[in-house]
Amino acid sequence: MEYIKLNDENKIPAIGFGVFMIPNDGPTYDAVLEALKAGYRHIDTAAAYFNEEDVGKAVRDSGIPRDEIFVTSKLWLQDHGYESAKRGIARSLRKLGLDYIDLYLVHQPYGDVAGAWKAMEEAKEEGKIKSIGVSNMSPALWNKFVPEFTTKPAVNQVEFNPLFQQKEIRRLMAQTDTKLEAWYPLGHGNAELLSVPVITKLAGKYGKNPGQIILRFELQEGVITLPKSTNPQRIKTNLDIFDFTLTEDEMNEMRSLDTGKGSHDPDAPGVEEMLRNAFVITD
Ligand SMILES: NC(=O)c1ccc[n+]([C@@H]2O[C@H](COP(=O)([O-])OP(=O)(O)OC[C@H]3O[C@@H](n4cnc5c(N)ncnc54)[C@H](OP(=O)(O)O)[C@@H]3O)[C@@H](O)[C@H]2O)c1
Repeated sequence: MEYIKLNDENKIPAIGFGVFMIPNDGPTYDAVLEALKAGYRHIDTAAAYFNEEDVGKAVRDSGIPRDEIFVTSKLWLQDHGYESAKRGIARSLRKLGLDYIDLYLVHQPYGDVAGAWKAMEEAKEEGKIKSIGVSNMSPALWNKFVPEFTTKPAVNQVEFNPLFQQKEIRRLMAQTDTKLEAWYPLGHGNAELLSVPVITKLAGKYGKNPGQIILRFELQEGVITLPKSTNPQRIKTNLDIFDFTLTEDEMNEMRSLDTGKGSHDPDAPGVEEMLRNAFVITD
């Protein structure tokens, strides 16, 4: 596994295992144990994935020392604001059954983000959270919130894959050395992305599948990538990308696939309301 140094000096495994849409009470537990067995040391969950319990149980049962596993979770919108965020952090810690969370993110950047951030900064001071970051920040949302933060975000977790390379937000994030984490790194299994000729050509050359070429590109771009799979074979192969290197010309070919458009626009009218109504996190 390769590691990336964050702007707070903590280290994060460059590939994480995403558990979005995997149910709690068994499937997430099994998938996380399978991933840890395959060599993943970084799990990405969220309060709004409703599977923090299974993630924590798998981490505790894995037999792997806690300090060798990097666990991310995220605060949901209903818990924005200083006091609410303190409750949200406590709830995540309780559901995970862990003493600390390696990385905690503002999942959706709307409402009282400043209050939530203050609570996260305090939790970091207290050692309950090791690193803090944000998610789904477009350039406009970044400029609205981040200049007021005392602690600069360690990461911004946004949609990213070869068809949507987020060039503008990456330029802003470089100013605070904030790392990009890629959600939908495989385009959510998008068949169109997986059959792009540049990608299938490179897959043939290196004897890899298209998913592995995409993940290798992301790794070489310095992006922390979070492929999700419940298929034991793909869980393994998505990690098997450390034995080849794309040349600079090949990286440029991959860079030229950017369309500048993704599936989610955080600035679109009505997005905040849609998200607010999407989930209710209960104790
Ligand atoms: N912060 C946010 O707002 C946000 C939003 C979305 C996601 N995320 C995070 O990002 C993670 C990844 O996103 P995602 O799961 O939606 O998308 P993804 O990793 O881009 O795609 C997963 C899909 O691709 C398939 N797949 C996996 N490996 C493959 C391969 N090598 N070749 C072809 N298909 C492959 C999977 O099917 P099988 O399971 O059958 O292998 C699954 O259908 C999430 O789990 C979550 O942790 C965060």
